[in-house]
Amino acid sequence: MRSKISVIGSGNVGASVAQFLSVRDLGDIALFDIIEGASEGKALDMMEGTPHWGVDNNIKGYTTIDRNVYSNLAGSDVIVVTAGLARKPGMTRDDLLSKNVQIIKDIAENVKKYAPDAVVVIVSNPADTMAYAFQKVSGMNPEKIMGLGGSLDSARFRTFLAMELGVSVEDVNAFVIGGHGDDMVPFIRFSSVSGIPITSLLSKEKIDEIVQRTRFGGGEIVNLLKTGSAYYAPGISITAMVESIIKDRKRVIPCAAYINKETAKHYSAEGLFIGVPIKIGENGVEHIYKVEFNADEKALWDKTVKSVKENAGKVDQFLGSN
Ligand code: 2OP
Repeated sequence: MRSKISVIGSGNVGASVAQFLSVRDLGDIALFDIIEGASEGKALDMMEGTPHWGVDNNIKGYTTIDRNVYSNLAGSDVIVVTAGLARKPGMTRDDLLSKNVQIIKDIAENVKKYAPDAVVVIVSNPADTMAYAFQKVSGMNPEKIMGLGGSLDSARFRTFLAMELGVSVEDVNAFVIGGHGDDMVPFIRFSSVSGIPITSLLSKEKIDEIVQRTRFGGGEIVNLLKTGSAYYAPGISITAMVESIIKDRKRVIPCAAYINKETAKHYSAEGLFIGVPIKIGENGVEHIYKVEFNADEKALWDKTVKSVKENAGKVDQFLGSN
């Protein structure tokens, strides 16, 4: 049977995801958006190109002004949530929190109603915090919920390293953990080119520069675009996560995952969603890998946990009064 993937929010990120999912022939796609006709138009437009790819995805759009259309979430294997405001120049992802949490609340209620067993990928920013809000509202199994962050940030980190070293991106192995914010933690010690540590290939100054560029990678695109934020690299990074779920590939990609009591013994951050290396399969987050920190890394980790925790507190406050 064909898989079904729903994408809620068909702005630039949602539409890019849908397009990449279709090109990779991952299943039928349902697109949802509050703007009248936007999902229907984009879905039809995408579908009309599929003969050239030779893929038979059914792509359908729905306008959520009529809340009943959310019933079309039923049967989804994966739901990608991109709805919400995106950054403009001068804004941090955290500036989006108060508006996006309202949007996520409404979506979480509908996902719970129509597709409570789906694996959910949260993209709306701040993604780790929105994953936290989504879980709180829906009460769904936290192991089936993950947030975008490390998947995208690690792709940026690998790209910048490959650009600097003049080598294929495929051979650069590097990852970013922590919150999907300016204090994310690009992990230098385990970064390599086909196993050769980057510390033996690049100076400390150059590595620091690349780490800094990675941290502000999203902001760099926002400043260039001026009217919104990145969508091609996010779209591809989300597609990689969805593909690993749909095909049960067991890829290991850092994403925002739920830290339960047991995992918190290593990572602290109990009850939060935060970027850690996870194994992604048909059941969602199938394993969380524990990375041993040295003292410097631990200090960076504690800082990012603090920011994510503060944001979770704001969500609790919002949900408590709504
Ligand atoms: C970014 O980093 C969209 O937050 C996303 O570009």
